[in-house]
Amino acid sequence: ARTVRRDEDGLITVGGLTVAQLAEQVGTPAYILDEADFRARCRAWVDAFGSDADVFYAGKAFLSRAVVRWLHEEGLNLDVCSGGELATALSAGMPAERIAFHGNNKSEDEIRRAVTEGVGRIVLDSFQEIVRVAHIAQSLGKRQRVQIRVTVGVEAHTHEFIATAHEDQKFGIALAGGQAAEAVRRALRLDGLELIGIHSHIGSQIFDMAGFEVSARRVVQLLAEVRDEHGVELPEIDLGGGLGIAYTSADDPREPHHIAKALKEIVGRECEAAGLATPRISVEPGRAIVGPTAFTLYEVGTVKPLEGLRTYVSVDGGMSDNIRTALYDAEYSVALASRTSDAEPMLSRVVGKHCESGDIVVRDAFLPADVAPGDLLAVPATGAYCRSMANNYNHALRPPVVAVRDGEARVIVRRETEEDLLRLDVG
Ligand code: LLP
Repeated sequence: ARTVRRDEDGLITVGGLTVAQLAEQVGTPAYILDEADFRARCRAWVDAFGSDADVFYAGKAFLSRAVVRWLHEEGLNLDVCSGGELATALSAGMPAERIAFHGNNKSEDEIRRAVTEGVGRIVLDSFQEIVRVAHIAQSLGKRQRVQIRVTVGVEAHTHEFIATAHEDQKFGIALAGGQAAEAVRRALRLDGLELIGIHSHIGSQIFDMAGFEVSARRVVQLLAEVRDEHGVELPEIDLGGGLGIAYTSADDPREPHHIAKALKEIVGRECEAAGLATPRISVEPGRAIVGPTAFTLYEVGTVKPLEGLRTYVSVDGGMSDNIRTALYDAEYSVALASRTSDAEPMLSRVVGKHCESGDIVVRDAFLPADVAPGDLLAVPATGAYCRSMANNYNHALRPPVVAVRDGEARVIVRRETEEDLLRLDVG
């Protein structure tokens, strides 16, 4: 369903529109999102997991009201991790029972709103939160469906800042030392809570299924312990998100049906061994759905060849619209999008317009030696964690997100304006 290609003149097109037309219509920089591709990826996940499992899209990767409507139409659920994401979801008509609410430090107001609206589940992340959610639910005369997030002690092979299931980090309740079992004990005692399952998220941008398998195995072990101690079989397990995507041709991502098959097999096998009925599985892909569906379109402003080193190609955005390179040393590719060129490839670094030298979008890339001001560059795979982590450093105006479908470009998040910035500045 991908509609991004090069036309016969060498221009990158999406949904039949050339990047030149897009730049003309919406300006640069802009995130250009292929709606057909987004919907196709949603369907692939839902189809792969089938009717005995649930797919929750992780809104932190990128959320807007249009996205919420697409998710709803394609049969996905939604994972939110803040009051802001919850408000966006509800305002676009996502039924509350299809929303899961995450976070390691949800405020009382956020919890109250979530319980009042009737979210399908709250994922409890600490001992304090078990009590806090129970009290709030009880004071509202409700019984809230909850899962407990456990840390399974897996070292996911990814960047330190986005790995989440090893022991020395802030998320979840450790399986080690009987802590998770104690959390279950407390949750089962509280009238305000209906404990429906156990949750484990091991990290992000992961390619190796081994970590998920260990995680699934340990979660099932906990279910068996809970059954032995309390005589209850918790009906659900959530194995989180974290499936990697191809940022460059070096990455080799797994397809949803492969992931679904592997997870279902391991859960099925472990449950059978433990004499448990197979619980309902849910997963929370964010990046794997939205990441590949968008690219950032930039215009080149200056080109600075540094003798014997490389050429610095400055674009009209930078670390304000994509902080991942600076923050995680993330790798991206880049293509000259507005024309073809027969010029020699030159070692280039695509940089932004911000006031520091760490402001790098693509660290090392080959671009044609005749790249010049006015050329348009496309940086692929910027659909996840780029607009959602965009910032106003140097009072940059955050770029729009433009959904393209059937030859039509529709702004779904508009470009920020100087008025937007000044409106917050009330001093
Ligand atoms: N579920 C939970 C509980 C999560 O914490 C996350 C991501 C996801 C699901 C979705 O993970 P995904 O499928 O998108 O990998 N800003 C970082 C990524 C942080 C991920 C945080 N949690 C980045 O730009 O790489």
